[in-house]
Amino acid sequence: MFESIPQAPADPILGLNEAFKTDPRASKVNLGVGVYKDAQGTTPVLRCVKLAEAKILEQQKTKSYLSIDGLPEYAAAVQALLFGADSDIIAAQRARTAQAPGGTGALRVAADFIFSNLNTKKVWISNPSWANHAQIFQAVGFEVAQYRYYDADAKGLDFDGMKADLAEVEAGDVVILHGCCHNPSGIDPTAEQWAELADIARTQGWLPLFDFAYQGFAVDVEQDATGLRLFADALEELMVASSFSKNFGLYNERTGAFTLLAQTSEAANSAFSQVKKVIRANYSNPPAHGAMVVATILADAELKAMWLDELAEMRARIKTMRLEFVSQLKAAGVAGDFSFIEQQNGMFSFSGLNPDQVAALKEEFAIYIVRSGRINVAGMTEANLPYLVSAIASVL
Ligand code: LMR
Repeated sequence: MFESIPQAPADPILGLNEAFKTDPRASKVNLGVGVYKDAQGTTPVLRCVKLAEAKILEQQKTKSYLSIDGLPEYAAAVQALLFGADSDIIAAQRARTAQAPGGTGALRVAADFIFSNLNTKKVWISNPSWANHAQIFQAVGFEVAQYRYYDADAKGLDFDGMKADLAEVEAGDVVILHGCCHNPSGIDPTAEQWAELADIARTQGWLPLFDFAYQGFAVDVEQDATGLRLFADALEELMVASSFSKNFGLYNERTGAFTLLAQTSEAANSAFSQVKKVIRANYSNPPAHGAMVVATILADAELKAMWLDELAEMRARIKTMRLEFVSQLKAAGVAGDFSFIEQQNGMFSFSGLNPDQVAALKEEFAIYIVRSGRINVAGMTEANLPYLVSAIASVL
């Protein structure tokens, strides 16, 4: 039976990562997958994580199952990060959070929950969006449509196009929004624009699902939640898929969360009982370690302060690399204005490199970039930048 199954195409991001690992060339540079690298080109375990892990190791008494929705202290910590510790939403118990295996796991929980409990079978994603969004929702049976987002000529947000498209979305349809650090463009709406979008959502009655994987990578943890919090003020219902892969560096611990906000605490409870049902039928209950680390850090004032410092360090290094990259491109005489790269948020930059140029960088220089031209700026270092810039100059 299996011999008739055709080969699946490689994943546009993780497939590239696999190809990178087997590339024997010493000069290779990986700017594909969204993983933070420090100045030495390594992806370190954060100091606050190491300390939290030592504490957990010492105090942990059992490896017994967690409940279907995971650790309650983790859920509380996630909600405080999302809505703010003093949020009325938390006081009124209108939000419920399930620990999930990574942001992808959280999105899949969202998709399963919506598909089996609401009438909508249509989800809207930005054009462009993270390559896995369409795949996750299609796997569940959704129709996936796109709303305008990126203006390739202006290298900025096509806000008029975005508004026009979202004003046509039907009541009940799901709209995925990137909480901050839009993946892949690095371009986010301003606070005023978020407020306008929230108005459209309220008028139209569509259901927002925030994909929030980079909280703390744009400005800081609080300001990066501006869009989400404006929506939560304006609407009675929304959902969030959180990931702590990047901001806690917990990539392989698959640490994420699905949060739903309902009109009342009672409505949140019954909707959440259905969330637990879909989780039970999928992975039963979540892996513990990453969530324990996050909950331990956020419950301890010293560890939390250390985390915020380390996050600021990562953010600052990426910003420095953006500035260096632009200045070295200019110094190398590469034609064009690349200053837009300095304005983008988060790990990624939409470079404007076309698929042929991306392919040439891989074939000729062992430089790995996602086919869309998305560059992981966090993969740049002082050491690999000159090589990268001269390679880009030669393919342009
Ligand atoms: C990315 O966009 O590179 C990351 O979110 C990793 C992934 O799973 O694709």
